[in-house]
This record gives sequence, structure tokens and C-alpha cells, in this order.
Amino acid sequence: MPCACTGLGAKPIICANSPLETVSHSNSNPATGLPLIDTDMRQVDAVIAERLHSDVPLVGQISRYILGAGGKRLRPKLLLLTCGALQCQDVRRFQMAAVVEFIHTATLLHDDVVDDSTLRRGMETANAAFGNPASVLVGDFLYSRAFQMMVEAQSMRIMEVLAEATNVIAEGEVLQLMHMHNADLTQAQYTEVIRSKTAKLFEASARVGAILAQATPEHEDACARYGQALGTAFQMVDDVLDYTGDAELLGKNLGDDLREGKTTLPLIAAMQRSNALDAHTVRNAIENGDASQLPAILAIVQSTGATEVAMQAAQAQAQLAADAARDLPDNSYSRCLAELAAQSVFRST
Ligand code: IPE
Ligand code: IPE
Ligand code: MG
Ligand code: MG
Repeated sequence: MPCACTGLGAKPIICANSPLETVSHSNSNPATGLPLIDTDMRQVDAVIAERLHSDVPLVGQISRYILGAGGKRLRPKLLLLTCGALQCQDVRRFQMAAVVEFIHTATLLHDDVVDDSTLRRGMETANAAFGNPASVLVGDFLYSRAFQMMVEAQSMRIMEVLAEATNVIAEGEVLQLMHMHNADLTQAQYTEVIRSKTAKLFEASARVGAILAQATPEHEDACARYGQALGTAFQMVDDVLDYTGDAELLGKNLGDDLREGKTTLPLIAAMQRSNALDAHTVRNAIENGDASQLPAILAIVQSTGATEVAMQAAQAQAQLAADAARDLPDNSYSRCLAELAAQSVFRST
């Protein structure tokens, strides 16, 4: 039987699908690339557009600016695919999919302020365009709008899962802040940060799909494992792409992590595998957030095979995700989840 994800290829595995669009970026695409959920995603985008409404004009302006720029809409897609895999037709899935995208977008608004980033989804970041205070406050608006919407679903379980996820993401970002410029960060500490700041929302998105489907505990657990592993792989790849990616395709600047002294897996692996002099160069760059060292660091990352080490770690997580997808009922949706996991390490956007 042909896989429902055919045509995704190794390029953008997950494309945007946004009727909100005001600006188009290479991430944007009128189709999701996932025919199974194309129609559902249009409904999700309609909910997103409708629920951005605020009587305060700047709120709508900034929200539409970032959400209209597209993005891959990965977390809502996970939620919908999980629902599909578990044969769930609950209409609340569209609203819950919008909720996870709102939470994600709020984290991005805050993250770009914290990281002092200037490019997101191929456009100036909201903080660059509107300033830090407006970005932080509109991030708060999106968080709280997401909470209003999840209350409407009247499911205590869903509220528990999303409240916990939001709390853990915030902890993850603070933990990361505490580790800034720490060149002694271990791989275990790095993994703890990315599990919290990124994988937790993937996990929650897939788990909410399972809750809507009134899944068995075993299936809900498989969804959660899938989300956690995919999210971990996804962030590991993001951290490699921050060094080796194509800024045009990514819609983000390269080198942001080094500039702010963020010790990610490519650097941890490079320091472990390099000679003392090169390890010292990497350490100094982390401690000083020295972006001028980016070409030298990139050369060390590549010559030591650190990129491959990081990609192998991502691949191992992607494999765990694919295994978890195979613990779900065998249908076109669960096969699509397995294929998304397999392709996640080949992404360039
Ligand atoms: C960006 O997430 C933040 C990370 C977890 C690396 P995405 O890469 O999913 O961002 P968009 O939504 O597609 O722009
Ligand atoms: C992901 O980390 C941020 C969140 C999960 C909020 P990054 O800081 O690496 O994400 P990008 O690279 O800015 O998208
Ligand atoms: Mg960032
Ligand atoms: Mg990044």
C-alpha cells in the first residue's frame, strides 16, 4: 500500500499551509505536503485566524505577522495525524491543534527576544520589527488565548497535559539560560534542556490527539513516546542546522547559538573529539559568545566529525519515534507518522 506521506521527499518534509499569509517564505506552501490532513489543516488555520482577534490592534498585528509568515505547523500536524491513527473524528481536534500552534508561537516570540534573534520564518523577527516589549507581551497574549481555548474543550486531562507542557517548556528555557556560556555542559544536561524546551510540546501534541481519541493507555503512551523522541530528534537537527544549514531555506540566521554562548551537541562532540588547542578554541568561543569564531568553529565541528555524531544521536531518536509509531494501529496515518520520523533527520527547513 502506498504511504500517505509520499511526495515529501528528503526536502521540506512538512510545509506550511496558511490562509493567513501576508508574506511568503520558502517554508510557506499552499499544500501541507501531507494529503491525509490537508483538509483538516485548512480548518486549523481557519481557527487560528479567527482566534487571533483582539480589540487591541497591535496584538492582532504582531500575531498575524508571525503566524502569517507560515512555519511548518508541525505540532498541529502531529496532533491531527495522531487523531487519524486512532480513528478520532472529534471536532475539538481543530481547536486543540490551533492551541498547540499558539503555544509554540508564544515560545518563539519569547525565545527570539531571549536569543536576540533577528530572522524567523524568512522575515525580521517580531522583536526586531516591533521591539522586545511588544514581542513579550503578545507572546503572553498567545499563551493566555491558548489557555482560554483549551478550557473550552472541557477536558481536564487535556488541560493537565498542556498546562504541564507549558510549564516544562518555561523551565527548559530557564535551564538553558542558566547554562549559557557553560562549556562544561554534558550531553545528558543538553538532552535535559531540549527534552523540556522542545520535545515536551511535541509529546503533549501527540498525547492530546490520543486523549481526544479516547485511546487505550498503551496507545496514549506510544503517542507520547513518539512525540518525545521526534521532538528530541528535531531539536538535535535544529542545533546542527544552526552551523551547517542554509539560512535561506531555514528562514533563520546561522550561528545564533554560538553568538549567545549556547553549548549544543555539535560543540560538545567537537570538544570531546578535537585536540587540546581546538578544544580550547571552542571553549573560548562558548564562554565569550564569540560569533567571529564561527568559521573556525565550523571547521573544527566538521573536521572532528561532530556533525555526524550529533546527527547519529538524532537518528537514534528518530528510530525510537518510528518504533513508537509502529505500536499504533497499522493504517495510513500511523505509517505517515513513522515516515515523518524517518525523514526528520533529512530536513533542511
Ligand atoms: C523552531 O520550531 C523552534 C525549535 C524547536 C527548533 P520549528 O522549526 O517547528 O518552527 P516553525 O514553526 O516551523 O517556524
Ligand atoms: C528552540 O530553541 C526554542 C524553543 C523551543 C522555544 P532554539 O533557540 O534553537 O530555536 P530557534 O533556533 O531559535 O528556532
Ligand atoms: Mg532561538
Ligand atoms: Mg535553533
